[in-house]
Amino acid sequence: MKIVVVGPGAIGSLFAAYLSKSKEEVWLLDKDKERAALLYASGISLEGVSGSWQSKVKTTASPGDIGTADLILICVKSFNTKSTIEEIKPILGPDTKLLTLQNGIGNVEIISELAGEERVLAGVTSEGATLISAGKLRHAGRGETVIGAIDGKTPVQLRQIRELFNKVGLECKMSRDIKGLLWSKLIINAGINALSAVTRLPNGKLIAYEGTRRILRDAVTEGARIAKRKRIKLIFDDPLAKVEAVCENTQDNFSSMLQDVLKKKRTEIDFINGVIVRLGQELGIDVPANRFLLDLVKTIESSYAQQTQ
Ligand code: PAF
Repeated sequence: MKIVVVGPGAIGSLFAAYLSKSKEEVWLLDKDKERAALLYASGISLEGVSGSWQSKVKTTASPGDIGTADLILICVKSFNTKSTIEEIKPILGPDTKLLTLQNGIGNVEIISELAGEERVLAGVTSEGATLISAGKLRHAGRGETVIGAIDGKTPVQLRQIRELFNKVGLECKMSRDIKGLLWSKLIINAGINALSAVTRLPNGKLIAYEGTRRILRDAVTEGARIAKRKRIKLIFDDPLAKVEAVCENTQDNFSSMLQDVLKKKRTEIDFINGVIVRLGQELGIDVPANRFLLDLVKTIESSYAQQTQ
């Protein structure tokens, strides 16, 4: 199987490094030519919960080097999904599957529209990874990855992917309810990411202080209320307990949004708390904690140039 991981961020690099342990042909596609050359030469080095190890991953900036892929893992930021799908069209064959492992809501729809719904698989991962610099990764916490197909079926490719992930050490399960899965991850990200970006705290510390505990609880409860109104079944019965457990299991991790803010980069806020705020307006449900987090992160993003550090 030819597997392409698109996006050399924390999750993309983590999956590329783990999958390179298999016998499959694994590529990492990075649109930045210089960084791709660096990663090709020096590989990806990891430290953290999985020990210290090094992985050689074939990296390129040019889809033409790769040829037709069997499986493509989409690990780019949600606001880059559209342009990424356009860029990878040359490596799509008739049977190529696209598995999105991105945060937020909206990616499945974009990929389906541009590449065809029949190709799309979606997954959520609770693996915690922090990119220290290009190709240097801290595997800060282990968590399972759950994957599914849009139509709720479990085609042979989906089972093969689950087996492959498990074989290389990425704990993986299948689900028949992708919507429930993506919304469950949305609730986790809505509780953790913006709050950690604003406070600059690692995930574990968000539940160590009364104030952040309360905001986290409110953001999660509001998100769960929207999901309920939309008749989306979350994969856990107690959303707050689940989000707190993710904070504990990935306690040293800097959430992806905190990593973005520290690098003064655009965040995925519109695809996370922004989705809850938009739906809250549509459905007439008050979501003040999500509104507050959305406003703060938007302000941080727009004022990078004025910030002291
Ligand atoms: O976006 C993230 O950082 C991750 O999805 C998670 C699970 C919140 C861990 O940091």
